[in-house]
Amino acid sequence: MPVSVTVDFAPFADIAATGPRNGGEAGASALIVFAGENLSFGPQTGQLVAPAASAIERAARAAKFKGKSGSALDILAPQGLGWDRLVVLGVAAKAEEGKVPEAPDYVAIGGAAAGRLNGAARVAIMTDMPAAPADPTAVAADMALGAVLRAYKFDLYRTKKKDDSEKEAAAVALTLAVADPTAARAAHVARQALADGVIIARNLVNEPPNVLYPEEFANRAKNLEKLGVSVEILDKKTMTDLGMGALLGVGQGSIRESRVVIMRWNGAPAPDQPVAFVGKGVCFDSGGISIKPGAGMEDMKGDMAGAACVVGLMHALAARKARVNAIGAIGLVENMPDGAAQRPGDIVKSMSGQTIEIINTDAEGRLVLADVLWYVQDKYKPRFMVDLATLTGAILVALGQEYAGLFSNSDELAERLATAGRDTGEKVWRMPLGPAYDKMIDSKFADMKNTGGRHGGSITAAQFLQRYVEKTPWAHLDIAGTGMGPPASDTNQSWGSGWGVRLLDRLVKDYYEG
Ligand code: BES
Ligand code: MN
Ligand code: ZN
Repeated sequence: MPVSVTVDFAPFADIAATGPRNGGEAGASALIVFAGENLSFGPQTGQLVAPAASAIERAARAAKFKGKSGSALDILAPQGLGWDRLVVLGVAAKAEEGKVPEAPDYVAIGGAAAGRLNGAARVAIMTDMPAAPADPTAVAADMALGAVLRAYKFDLYRTKKKDDSEKEAAAVALTLAVADPTAARAAHVARQALADGVIIARNLVNEPPNVLYPEEFANRAKNLEKLGVSVEILDKKTMTDLGMGALLGVGQGSIRESRVVIMRWNGAPAPDQPVAFVGKGVCFDSGGISIKPGAGMEDMKGDMAGAACVVGLMHALAARKARVNAIGAIGLVENMPDGAAQRPGDIVKSMSGQTIEIINTDAEGRLVLADVLWYVQDKYKPRFMVDLATLTGAILVALGQEYAGLFSNSDELAERLATAGRDTGEKVWRMPLGPAYDKMIDSKFADMKNTGGRHGGSITAAQFLQRYVEKTPWAHLDIAGTGMGPPASDTNQSWGSGWGVRLLDRLVKDYYEG
């Protein structure tokens, strides 16, 4: 897949009239259309591909293509059409027994379409569907979003092209054929802001830890000022004065200084209590003195995926001028073992005043979040706090990479997140909290300890966080499974997934704007 896709919208009639503009050095052209059951097309598509009807039918018969969702028919040099290639994507819904049929996910469909380019540089997508959707403008804009997300690739550090196996075009000009291009372009603006936010998050997660350490991460967050976000960076001295002993303890074994970054977007028409998002930003998690095994340790450069999501989200909210007041707060540290490092057995004092016995220096994320959650709650009195953290390996055992773990003290907030999850495909699964789990982190020597043993590891981690939340509605998303290395999908082929940006943007849009 290419790195850059430029998106535009054109009237259906233009695609028919001008065709693919073949020839020259611009690269191959492709026309992408959608088909339902029995090769049914939308009306515009039906007309456009009519000259190739018999070629399509033959190809479909030969390939046993029935229009099933996820299947595709790829026809080279289709007879009767000027395009170098015609891709027919199946969108016939699979009816699953005993289940309410899901609405088609047009973002995923756009991503799937972009996944079928096969090197074409000039591409048109006919966005009319075999079954007319309620809002064709939203359908087209969603497809464009999906295509942009699909096209993302992180190759900043490759100095050599991988050759012929990568026969992809470096840049793709993508035209989406629609009934009303002006409306589609307008609808695309907010989605482009969102796509940029997701891509910012992915970039941060993919960056290597020698480049992206706390100070550098904070500098990247500072870029949001260009969009009108106010960005405040708390340095070590300030955090020491605030009493953030839990966060600072984690970073004390690293030569890289810790930082907290507070981002504020004020988009609400009236002064209004903010919503708040808090991210774990462990730029590298070696485990510290409780050092991790070597195999796979390189993945711990992604232990800041929560913080990356918060920065991407703040970008999206500001760039689309969301009518909300939002705080983004991230705790940035590097967890390393050296002579100054924190030890198992140490007792630290958090900003809340509560003391913590360190049992395992690898349970560091909760220590970072404890102080950032407390700071945000205390200073901004938010309407709610949602934190995101690659917090526990145990959440991978429980939920795999399909769902993030959701823990909440608020049924309303949990429901809203679940709904936004279903709508965006960034799914969350609610896990329990309760006093019996809370007891597991009581300490012999301090107010609490930082691990609760092997059982229910994701839950005891969440209980720990909850000890730093007072009456504020709060949700914790454990994204250790979804934030990095999830299986490739229609909308993401990248290791750093940018998970959560779409989910939380939707949460804000559907419940907290105006
Ligand atoms: N960053 C890890 C969790 C993690 C593991 C994220 C795998 C992504 C993939 C976290 O800081 C950690 O080390 N957690 C420990 C907690 C334990 C020591 C109680 C874990 O999950 O093993
Ligand atoms: Mn750890
Ligand atoms: Zn960690």
